[in-house]
Amino acid sequence: MARKKSTFVCQSCGAVTNRWAGRCESCGEWNSIIEEVESAGIGSSPKTIRGKSGRVVELVPLSGEDKPAPRIETGVGELDRVTGGGFVKGSVLLLGGDPGIGKSTLLIQASAALTHHGHSVVYISGEEAIDQVRMRAARLGLAEATVQLAAETSVEDILATLTSGPPPQMVVIDSIQTLWTEAADSAPGTVTQVRASAQAMIRYAKQTGAAVILVGHVTKDGQIAGPRVVEHMVDGVLHFEGDSGHQFRILRAIKNRFGPTDEIGVFEMTGGGLTQVANPSAMFLGERNTSTPGAAVLAGMEGSRPLLVEIQALVAQSPLGTPRRAVVGWDSSRLSMILAVLDAHCGVRLSSHDVYLNVAGGMKISEPAADLAVAAALVSSLAGIALPSDCVYFGEVSLSGAVRPVSHTASRIKESAKLGFAKAVVPEASQKSIKSAELELSNLSTLTDLVARIA
Ligand code: TYD
Ligand code: MG
Repeated sequence: MARKKSTFVCQSCGAVTNRWAGRCESCGEWNSIIEEVESAGIGSSPKTIRGKSGRVVELVPLSGEDKPAPRIETGVGELDRVTGGGFVKGSVLLLGGDPGIGKSTLLIQASAALTHHGHSVVYISGEEAIDQVRMRAARLGLAEATVQLAAETSVEDILATLTSGPPPQMVVIDSIQTLWTEAADSAPGTVTQVRASAQAMIRYAKQTGAAVILVGHVTKDGQIAGPRVVEHMVDGVLHFEGDSGHQFRILRAIKNRFGPTDEIGVFEMTGGGLTQVANPSAMFLGERNTSTPGAAVLAGMEGSRPLLVEIQALVAQSPLGTPRRAVVGWDSSRLSMILAVLDAHCGVRLSSHDVYLNVAGGMKISEPAADLAVAAALVSSLAGIALPSDCVYFGEVSLSGAVRPVSHTASRIKESAKLGFAKAVVPEASQKSIKSAELELSNLSTLTDLVARIA
């Protein structure tokens, strides 16, 4: 019999090597490499294995063969928005997020909502005992929900439990890191175990048509722990984010084979569980202090939804030879670019100033439309002049100092008007796409125009 082959797998990034090392060459993590024994069977000779013939079908079904909509809507609007209209039958989603962010709470609430609509849901908890899950549900006012609970960690036992009764429409596994299968020899929680367990659950989903949701832990740098490979295997990856200082949580699709990846769902963690935030802009602008210099409101977009947030900047003479640059919620290299453009084209010198930039409310912004709001906040802080409190900003700044138009101008303007803003500073070229005069518009073609207007 052939000797079982050992491989060395990084538990942080999933990289496989044939030698042990103290530090993973692929992700740089220390002490993350563990020896794993490949399970028998994988290397067996192909001659002895004969496949069963499968079935091929038309891509476009003939009329009369149309199946009912393959989605299961949860009725939790913010969750359905992120998945693209509900969980797809037979698909597998991975939900990642920091410990304590509210993954289990979200899923137990979604499960309860589904059972209210007559769907059958099995919630398998490998982390909490059944009584703990029950207690949480009772605290959330969901004690009446007909969600089936199980506390299991063995994949074989889970599959036996699931196939013993009528097939459920949704299965939640909380979490994938607690599962282990006899098909793999390594210890529970290792990459090999997680991968093999995920594979078994994916096979179950495809065979029975149940929607399977896997909860995954994240490492300290925000990746779903262990196996990046699991992210490739599943149909969708959702991230649940937020920071401990704020009550709101954002659900984001990182990968979605059946829907958009740029939509976000906004929730608020309250004493009674997660509640949906229907108007996130109003919440993000809620605690605004309108009279201080250095604050500009960005009329941003998240997917198809406009989102207004406040960009805060603080510029102060630096006592250090190399001034500090600190950014929360935005890209620091993008900040360096805006500082360089202000310096080179507008004569705004910040090279001897410390610069701090913060997106209020703990929101993370990645779109280039924030450039103009960031520049306005920086110039306002340097000049010590507060910006008009009823004004929003959006536009991309190019290296030449030109202000370029961005997408979704009309939605941004509409949302700003809805929230009571009266003015908008926008790129000149965006003018064409604004039909109704909902706001008083100021057009800019270069960043120099902006600086001239503020200072
Ligand atoms: P949980 O869903 O257990 O997080 P995860 O599964 O992502 O680890 O959420 C735990 C946190 O949520 C905990 O810190 C307390 C808080 N929480 C509330 O504030 N209100 C509630 O009603 C519930 C159930 C939890
Ligand atoms: Mg949990």
